[in-house]
Amino acid sequence: MLLDCVSDDKAELVLDGKKYLLPIIIGTEGERAIDIRSLRTETGHITIDSGYMNTGSCASQITFLDGEKGILNYRGYGIEDLAEHCSFVEVSYLLVHGTLPTGDELRRFRELLNLYSLIHEDMIHFFDHYPSNAPPMSILSSMVNSLSNYYPEMNENPLEDIDNMTARLISKVRTIAAFSYRKSYGSQLVMPRHDFSYCANFLNMMFDSPVKPYVVNDEVESALNKLLILHADHEQNCSTSTVRLVGSARVNLYASISAGISALWGPLHGGANMAVMDMLEEIHANGGDYKKYITKAKDRNDPFRLVGFGHRVYKNHDPRAQIIKEASEKVLKSLGVDDDPLLQIARELEDVALRDEYFVERKLYPNVDFYSGIIYRAIGIPQNMFTVMFALGRLPGWISHWREMWTDANWRIGRPRQVYVGPQRKKFVPLEDR
Ligand code: CMC
Repeated sequence: MLLDCVSDDKAELVLDGKKYLLPIIIGTEGERAIDIRSLRTETGHITIDSGYMNTGSCASQITFLDGEKGILNYRGYGIEDLAEHCSFVEVSYLLVHGTLPTGDELRRFRELLNLYSLIHEDMIHFFDHYPSNAPPMSILSSMVNSLSNYYPEMNENPLEDIDNMTARLISKVRTIAAFSYRKSYGSQLVMPRHDFSYCANFLNMMFDSPVKPYVVNDEVESALNKLLILHADHEQNCSTSTVRLVGSARVNLYASISAGISALWGPLHGGANMAVMDMLEEIHANGGDYKKYITKAKDRNDPFRLVGFGHRVYKNHDPRAQIIKEASEKVLKSLGVDDDPLLQIARELEDVALRDEYFVERKLYPNVDFYSGIIYRAIGIPQNMFTVMFALGRLPGWISHWREMWTDANWRIGRPRQVYVGPQRKKFVPLEDR
């Protein structure tokens, strides 16, 4: 059994006059779940739960999230402490290994990240064969899947090589992301450097030029570090559940993560950070009348939603959003662009929405994506790369969930059931009689 759950009371279910006792599982933070694993065998019934709003797909030791109280912990540590005191590399280690690294462990992990930062020369040619306007998320997903061809050792015994695979992915995805950007505008590639931190290396690979050397700004590096940490895990969200589901068929780590990247691409998930900027730019282009957009968002007959607001689980506040908001103020100030009109519109939208009955009643607060795009824009990341940045941050979370799923004593291939509502069996009609 993976988790230290205790079975407390039992839930009583009465079906067709017959009583069934279902165990109640209690998590370490007091979350309660009715264990229905024997339900179909015992009763012939299944449950239905579109969007899995009430379904726990696993027991996990990685991330605790309380949407009502606005709490997010990785391996027991509060997100606020981790964002304030750690590097993304430390947090990645924490997520994958379960403990914060000692000095030696961190040094060793950094060495691996350095060692694995290059990609196979053949893969560099892949970039030449995508159309120049190919969305970077599609390139990233394909390239990560292709890594399994170049590093197939994991197919034999994946967990023996987990340290190498983790370092490879965390390091190479950064290189792939930067290379895809450089290729998209026909620029020479900039190789990773052994003497730079993870974030400084990424910024340098993105922006250095022989004719205009890039100087890493500490404030920018720190904001990027925070953003990656805040995105590093979020328990069973759509992309992480995808990684687990695909991996549950015993697919290799690279292919599972490639599927997670595809899920993250969606505008209701990781793609929202790009959509927020489109929305802010549209409001700006239309004279900055943000109130009109609040009215549109509230109109049931208008499909428009205030992007960057609302969350499936946070019904109080998104603890990541506040940290990102503060980081955005700092970084914009240090770059001398704190009069950015889009930041101003974002502040005004937030202010009005937080007091508006519609948003208050539905518990709609700014989410992680609301301010992250503003930081990315200020530090020069193009909008079509925003979701790639999210993927870069989420990588250690995906890896730790894949690893946990792989070793879970309760592992089963993911295979939900359904309630069939189509036509009942009919007599077949041959083609000539139809
Ligand atoms: N603007 C206006 N109304 C909204 C919004 C919004 N952003 N979000 C939810 N609502 C309304 C919705 O219309 C519904 O109203 P009613 O009860 O009158 O029908 C009510 O709030 C509940 O919405 P829901 O769609 O049932 O909530 P959900 O938990 O299924 O969806 C969500 C969560 C994040 C998909 C949704 O809030 C949304 O579409 N937000 C905008 C997109 C966005 O910012 N996505 C990023 C999420 S955070 C990053 C990540 O996890 O990937």
